[in-house]
Amino acid sequence: MSEESRKVIYSAMQPSGHPSLGNYLGALKNWKDLKNDFDCIFSIANMHAITVRQDSANLRKKTRDLITLFIAIGLDPEKNIIYYQSDVSAHAELSWILNCFTYMGELNRMTQFKEKSLKHNENINSGLFTYPVLMAADILLYQTDVVPVGEDQRQHLEICRDIAERFNNIYGEVFKIPEGYIPKVGAKIMGLQNPTKKMSKSESDNDNNVIYLLDDLNLIRNKIKRSVTDSENEIRFSEDKPGISNLLNIYGAVTGKTPQDAEREFSGYGYGKFKEAVAEAVINEIKPIQEKYKELSADKSYIDSVIKNGAEKASYIANKTLKKVKKKVGFPIF
Ligand code: TYM
Repeated sequence: MSEESRKVIYSAMQPSGHPSLGNYLGALKNWKDLKNDFDCIFSIANMHAITVRQDSANLRKKTRDLITLFIAIGLDPEKNIIYYQSDVSAHAELSWILNCFTYMGELNRMTQFKEKSLKHNENINSGLFTYPVLMAADILLYQTDVVPVGEDQRQHLEICRDIAERFNNIYGEVFKIPEGYIPKVGAKIMGLQNPTKKMSKSESDNDNNVIYLLDDLNLIRNKIKRSVTDSENEIRFSEDKPGISNLLNIYGAVTGKTPQDAEREFSGYGYGKFKEAVAEAVINEIKPIQEKYKELSADKSYIDSVIKNGAEKASYIANKTLKKVKKKVGFPIF
């Protein structure tokens, strides 16, 4: 594909909690797999992260840790743009403008807002409510074609498309209308202890429920060993077996197989041996990432340079779109 015709991929991750296997299989792994065929832009969504109260020093550290992890999984700061959302002020500016093109009723329907309001009922701030508008601004600033995310972001992508179409209907073709890329396998990894609920990186109550990408490898093995299954001792991918199905899904996503293929591969296995095989596959995938992460973490000046260059490159593209938008809505442009 020529450089000119390459499509743009945009995605982001919040630096809240510790990155989980769910984040990896639903998003990061696909970013890595797609990175050579698209112009890729990936951000650390630290402006989204403050919709929930954060400790400042800890947030700063996690933001840096996450950009380091992006590189450790194989994103290439020479070829891909990797940056901090808060370094590009166009996000906040476009977000404000788009707020004026988004209806309260639309935002009221967002399931993630409802869930987070229940979880953080002492702090239901308006940033939490308009969170999807900032996310739309992220995506639309870069004239994005494709947004690779997990299943839980589907509704946010839909509202982004609606906002963009509404704006375009009034002002002409300002924004490209993005498509989602939600993987067939791995888009919704469930908790190991509670396989009917998604594995979440911000979970604090039950550490055994979540595999964190930077967990000690033995701990990962033990968490998988302890994962909840059922009393049948039969490896079958089926709705009435959420624990086993989740492990088959994890195995499939890690190895590039379908859960059905995985089911056939493990036919006749007992749960113990099956869990060992899943753990080995996960560890094989994560081990090189952890090694690279350790190496990169020691290279302060390299990470500093990635952050600085990423901010410059992202700002350049974002400001081009922002300028167009400002002109359209009637702000003076010099
Ligand atoms: P965040 O930080 O919650 O999650 C990052 C990515 O991980 C995916 N994910 C999962 N995938 C499969 N199984 C799971 N259990 C699982 N948990 C999380 C998410 O779907 C996501 O792709 N609002 C976004 C960040 C964001 C963004 C954007 C994404 C901000 N601006 C622009 C795309 C485009 C979020 O909170 O993701």
